[in-house]
Amino acid sequence: MRRSLVAANWKMNVLPSEAFRLANSIKLLTSNLNLEIVVAPPYTHLALMSHLPGHHFSLGAQNVHPEKAGAFTSGISTEMLKDLKVEYVIIGHSERREAYPNESLLIPRKIEACLNSNLKVIYCCGESIETRKSHEEFNFVGNQLNSDFLNLEQWNSNNLIIAYEPIWAIGTGLTATPEQAEEMHLFIRRWLKNKYDQKAGENTRILYGGSVKASNASSIASMDNIDGALVGGASLIPEEFAAIARCWDKA
Ligand code: PGA
Repeated sequence: MRRSLVAANWKMNVLPSEAFRLANSIKLLTSNLNLEIVVAPPYTHLALMSHLPGHHFSLGAQNVHPEKAGAFTSGISTEMLKDLKVEYVIIGHSERREAYPNESLLIPRKIEACLNSNLKVIYCCGESIETRKSHEEFNFVGNQLNSDFLNLEQWNSNNLIIAYEPIWAIGTGLTATPEQAEEMHLFIRRWLKNKYDQKAGENTRILYGGSVKASNASSIASMDNIDGALVGGASLIPEEFAAIARCWDKA
């Protein structure tokens, strides 16, 4: 049975001085739920939040440098994150893929660095509106998975989480219908079974991301293959985020 996971991606929002209060509200409002909560703030906030992790609540980072240490100005390593009690790292988010042309080359190395350090990866994939309009979404996501996991020989479903985030739904107020999301999640499970094994396909948690709100979360959560959500905008309001999380509280 896959344990549900609802993750907050704060992106470049929230001041450090507000971070603890906001994250603590999320932690308290979700403490009675049977699922995992991850909050991924900007790097500058992590040290201020490193006492928050508990049985249902973990910290995430929004990026990591693939090298262990050295002359990499502005880099943050896996060991630095672990020292601050970070457990998850978001890798491959479309906003980074778009803003940094080299990102695609770095994604496999970042994944490897996390797995070697025993950090869990929330790997993001998803197609643009043009790709969907031309009915190429399955090819596109399949190609992303093929290239980002080209050299990964063994799949560890404890440490690898996939987030399907159609670019056209991120921050736009448009959401994939539950059926569209479910269809892609099934496609990703089939890909995992084909490349790795039956267990990889069955045990991997696959999240949906893209304008998830309290008002649309329960229909998304009702799908069998959607194990949680990666939430941007709505994660900045603790009550809204907690209402989303409740939809995946499947005791
Ligand atoms: P959104 O962002 O919920 O604001 O659409 C989701 C994400 O980018 O992870």
